[in-house]
Amino acid sequence: MPTDFDRIIDRRHTASEKWERYAGCDVLPMWVADMDFASPPCVLEALHRRVDHGVFGYTLPPQSAVDAIVTHLLERYHWRIDPEWLVFTPGVNRGMNLVCRAIGERGDAIVVPTPVYPPFFGAVANSQRRLIDVPLARRTGERWEFDFVALADRTPADARLLLLCHPHNPVGRAWTRAELEQLATFCRERDLWICSDEIHAGLEFDGREHLPLAALSPEIAERTITLQAPSKTFNLPGLGLAFAIVPDAAIRRRMLGARAGLVPPDLSPLAYAAAEAAHREGEPWRRELVAYLQANRDTLATFVARETPELKLAPIEATYLAWIDATALGQPDPAKYFEQHGLGLNDGASFGAPGFVRLNFGCPRATLDEGLRRLRAAVLAARR
Ligand SMILES: Cc1ncc(COP(=O)(O)O)c(C=O)c1O
Repeated sequence: MPTDFDRIIDRRHTASEKWERYAGCDVLPMWVADMDFASPPCVLEALHRRVDHGVFGYTLPPQSAVDAIVTHLLERYHWRIDPEWLVFTPGVNRGMNLVCRAIGERGDAIVVPTPVYPPFFGAVANSQRRLIDVPLARRTGERWEFDFVALADRTPADARLLLLCHPHNPVGRAWTRAELEQLATFCRERDLWICSDEIHAGLEFDGREHLPLAALSPEIAERTITLQAPSKTFNLPGLGLAFAIVPDAAIRRRMLGARAGLVPPDLSPLAYAAAEAAHREGEPWRRELVAYLQANRDTLATFVARETPELKLAPIEATYLAWIDATALGQPDPAKYFEQHGLGLNDGASFGAPGFVRLNFGCPRATLDEGLRRLRAAVLAARR
């Protein structure tokens, strides 16, 4: 039976971070990156089975979950990994913090193409490294791209690491093979490691397939640490499971050392059960989801172009996040402005881009339609 993504599930009173922020107010939450859909039936069934067992002791990574991940990477991406390379963490952010601590020394530089998901900045600061932010090139009405001239100019000699978001939150790019290869060549020339956050893998539109950076060639794999998780694609971020794929044994040891006493080596048995089911059986659901999200994206893009042309939207190739240039509204704080008009968006300033807002369209069509009505009302009010 096809999945009913139109079904509205009331998330109020579930301590949802996204919905709690506006509890009791007439503000529609379209901010933090989780979706208002139930996880796939295969995941729910696996969780029920695990709950029915009734004992929830400390749990090692189950061999069956490891096998499901290894097989998934091989079958979907033709990427063969050694199970030893896997480091499980309770989230991708935790993984990125470990990578930043594991590479180089305090005071070293880390290169970050921006704008980007705000915890990238936190990972650099927490590890007492120096942030070198290099803006992505923005072509009006066209896609965002790496600025290789700026990367070459701004990367200092003591840079050890580059943080990549792929697909990119917030600009919605699914980087192409050519772009990834050019970036990897740059990193090899400058002797940089690359930490590739691929949490949005599997949410590509228009027939695109995710290309894991490390799968492009053995030389690229050697200098890449990949972070993946089922959290975004299968909508289970609250269960807290991610994994780093770390081919280099020394970096792996340093990551494990950096996590000692801080990041638990044991994850929840429920998280493992859900992750295993998602990787083993979730593909048909994922395809349905991507088709639904793509239609939401099209509805959004058509609406913005027709009804609120002062808002600028680059093509969204992946993710369920729309990165909207609202500078033409002339509002000093556009996120606050939209909130006052009943729409809860993310403030671009925290991503390094004041004047922008981020809208989450991972929701039933009726919710999106209501969000767009509010968006239009806010823009009309700004015209007066
Ligand atoms: C690019 C990116 N990385 C990491 C995360 C958070 O991952 P986790 O909750 O597994 O730490 C998000 C969540 O929005 C994200 O968009």
